[in-house]
Amino acid sequence: MSKVDILMPRAMLPVVMRGLEEKFTVHKPFEADDPEKLLAEVADKIRGIAVLGTRIDADFLAKFPNVEIASNFGVGYDNINVADCSAKNVVVTNTPDVLTEEVADTALGLLIMTARELSAAEKWLRDGKWESTGPYPLTGATLVGRTLGIFGLGRIGKAIAKRAEAFGLKVHYYGRNRQADVAYPYHDSLLKLAEACDTLMVVAPGGPETHHAVNGEVLAALGSNGILINIGRGTVVDEAALTEALEKGVIHGAGLDVFEDEPHVPAGLMALDRVTLLPHVGSASVHTRDAMGQLVVDNLTSWFETGKAVTPVPG
Ligand code: 8YV
Repeated sequence: MSKVDILMPRAMLPVVMRGLEEKFTVHKPFEADDPEKLLAEVADKIRGIAVLGTRIDADFLAKFPNVEIASNFGVGYDNINVADCSAKNVVVTNTPDVLTEEVADTALGLLIMTARELSAAEKWLRDGKWESTGPYPLTGATLVGRTLGIFGLGRIGKAIAKRAEAFGLKVHYYGRNRQADVAYPYHDSLLKLAEACDTLMVVAPGGPETHHAVNGEVLAALGSNGILINIGRGTVVDEAALTEALEKGVIHGAGLDVFEDEPHVPAGLMALDRVTLLPHVGSASVHTRDAMGQLVVDNLTSWFETGKAVTPVPG
């Protein structure tokens, strides 16, 4: 029996490449001399796609009429228009659970780095200023006594909440729905959450529903001691409004792992003190990325062997 044809539009980790090549015929336009020619030749045969950041929507699917499944690398799938996929009976899968603890660890690290200016303090030492000038200046902010508002209390949000509690922080949240199984105070708008907190942790997914949800008004509500952390998607935060709020001292600081136009980071943000900037490393350990990659493979394998995906997203 001939193998099922899978499209991999962009290069993925060896665990994905090897895992798929064992079972499928994998088409890799990034290795072809003429990618367009390859795509035109195989388009009708493709039944599954291993997705890394590629935009999958009606236009894309029109080129591949026999696709049954789009297996996304990443828990966030704002690159995929799920309604367009459902309209064509294309199942979408993502990589939840396997990255939860890693991303939550990064989120807490980023919060502590930001409140206590740890990146700047290390730079001070490496630049020789401890010896030449003296101790690093005392930080204006502290983690002690903060109230953390979590925007998006899903699996990762809950893992962050658990860690934050262990650090002695009070936790509140806002999301689409109040959740019956948690005791943290719920706010029915992002603005109300920001008013009740001095620290805002964005874990929300990207997409039109959350675009620029964190705007100037929300930032102002955090107050001058306010700290914003974004570990979700860059598009959730209005970067221009954030830059202005930081420049004017409307909030104290920010820690960002994600940006609106990655890998571009605006010069305005780069120029600011009390801002910690990470290059989207929330889940970026070999351990966790390999687990995510394996789940990309498992979803495709399971779909073609049993007709059921392991981690489909709601259609
Ligand atoms: C991904 C992420 O690995 O899972 C997500 O949604 O943001 C990351 O952990 C990244 O988007 C893929 O490059």
